[in-house]
Amino acid sequence: MKRFAIPLAGAVLAASAFYAVPAVAQFAKVEDAIKYRKASFTILSNHMGRLSAMARGERPFDAAAAQNSARLVDMAGHLPWEAMVPNSASGDTRLKPEALANAAEFKQAADKMNAETAKLVTASASLDTLRTQLGATGASCKGCHDKFRKD
Ligand code: HEC
Repeated sequence: MKRFAIPLAGAVLAASAFYAVPAVAQFAKVEDAIKYRKASFTILSNHMGRLSAMARGERPFDAAAAQNSARLVDMAGHLPWEAMVPNSASGDTRLKPEALANAAEFKQAADKMNAETAKLVTASASLDTLRTQLGATGASCKGCHDKFRKD
């Protein structure tokens, strides 16, 4: 009997990845989703700021600190999308309703940023590569903000 337990657990996990519960069920209130979203951007942006300070020579370049921040940027960069719940474009938020209405286009912009932040981790090994990849990452932030974030 016992030997069936593990494959079964695996199957349940695999199934839950495909049949995800609607995102709104993960938050008690829409306001909680908005807070979660903004908090993730705050973390992301704090570490982008640390990397920019090194890239601009305002802080001495430190490969270990840069890689640590790059990892946190990459991790935090996956969080906001968890909180794109219905009706979350009004209230204390700058999300434009277009982001929810054009979910595929929004996701494309999110995927683009996630692809750039994934490269930041290796790029932060040297100042030159950090500068280049930080530029590409920043452009992916701006691309989405211009379209989907209120001023
Ligand atoms: C796919 C779209 C998208 C991408 C990519 C994106 N953002 Fe945003 N960002 C938003 C939206 C939408 C908001 C408004 C969130 C809200 O108010 O609910 C936002 C808000 C923010 C905020 C304000 C958070 C607050 O407390 O109000 C900061 C800072 C920020 N983003 C930084 C960044 C940085 C840095 C990057 C790139 C590394 C980035 N964003 C990439 C869409 C995006």
